[in-house]
Amino acid sequence: MSDLHHLLTFPTRPITSDVYETQLAHLLKSGIPPTYTLEQVAAFEQGKEDEDDDGSESSNTTPLHILARSLPRDATKEELNVVLNLMNTLFEYGAGWNFLDYENKSIGDLLLEAGQYRNSALYQRVIEAGVSAELLLRKVNGGDVEFLDDLEGIEQEQEIQTKLVDDSSVPEISDSIDASDSDLTAADPMTYLNTKLEYTDDKLITKDNKDGVMMDWEDGIMKLAAETLFSDSSNTINSTVLNIGFGMGIIDTYIQEKNPAHHYICEAHPDVLAKMKKDGWYEKPNVTILEGRWQNTLNKLLDDGNVFFDGIYYDTFSEHYEDMLNLYDIIVGLIKPEGVFSFFNGLGADRPICYDVYKRIVEMDVNNYGMKCEYTTVQIGKQLPDWSDVKRSYYNCDYYYHPRISFM
Ligand SMILES: C[S@@+](CC[C@H](N)C(=O)[O-])C[C@H]1O[C@@H](n2cnc3c(N)ncnc32)[C@H](O)[C@@H]1O
Repeated sequence: MSDLHHLLTFPTRPITSDVYETQLAHLLKSGIPPTYTLEQVAAFEQGKEDEDDDGSESSNTTPLHILARSLPRDATKEELNVVLNLMNTLFEYGAGWNFLDYENKSIGDLLLEAGQYRNSALYQRVIEAGVSAELLLRKVNGGDVEFLDDLEGIEQEQEIQTKLVDDSSVPEISDSIDASDSDLTAADPMTYLNTKLEYTDDKLITKDNKDGVMMDWEDGIMKLAAETLFSDSSNTINSTVLNIGFGMGIIDTYIQEKNPAHHYICEAHPDVLAKMKKDGWYEKPNVTILEGRWQNTLNKLLDDGNVFFDGIYYDTFSEHYEDMLNLYDIIVGLIKPEGVFSFFNGLGADRPICYDVYKRIVEMDVNNYGMKCEYTTVQIGKQLPDWSDVKRSYYNCDYYYHPRISFM
């Protein structure tokens, strides 16, 4: 273990500014990178420091991981203030917020696991670092957005963070996501739209790869979302609403219960459209089906300028946050001034810290359109499935941030 790592195990108490902040500043100024990992130390000690260019996956246990793992359970308020200053310094020097350590854990995961830090300044600081890093990455990419769950995005972001302060070689970042054919279906819209789907009693999945497109554990979330779309609950029958992405038709069934004047459904996948036909959705008097990708059908509505919505819901598959940013441009033109926009919020939900970072990013992005995003936190732990018969879980938090977006 290096001196930097050792310092962050908090070998002496109390944790004071004089001892810890002074020593940390000294070590960083002497050139030790804030991203120096335990794995690099071990490789160096074995004379193998050049060997991580072989493409093999490795973990990155950074000084911030050591700090998060070593926080004394009985730390006082004063000590935690010093720890926050240490984190500030490490981030200012370019420490990464989402490196994964030898147990595949990020700093945020470790703070949450400790049980007492969810609402702490320490956890908030990691969120802030995540938001800044995401915005920086967007700038570096010329406005393109990398979704946090995207393997390449995570690697690129971590490399940028490291390169800002340290030009030494960065080890490959491992991530829980394996880049298989299945991921291509889940990550590439055109591949998805050409993939055969299969409906079972409780889910819609891709036939070959068993990727979960929609599962009925989301029923409660869809019910809540449908309520949200009718901002004036006493006047639902005069409402015009739009749902983007039919899937299992769960939210559309809840919307129908409100008997709105007009119910638009936009759906792109031929197998889903066939199921909608079979189940009679085309015959419902207040329903209009917009066949095709929302990227095409909604622009036409916008150009026609005849329809404006009280509520719009968005829940597609295999799209990315970048798509949502494009959707905001259309939404602001289609929604009534008092209308409500909501979406299935699985952004970064693979990992609670990423979920919290995206929660903040959405707030900031919709602010740019003069809109505000208000969240309701819903506990969903008991509803989550065991994921055994789908390729991989797309949701790993036991709570859900339900978004309600409206003009300020
Ligand atoms: C997760 S499901 C929606 C589930 C739905 N909220 C429900 O309550 O059952 C996603 C749906 O979006 C559709 N979809 C994917 N990309 C689309 C696009 N660009 N435009 C319209 N629909 C799309 C998929 O085919 C799929 O039916």
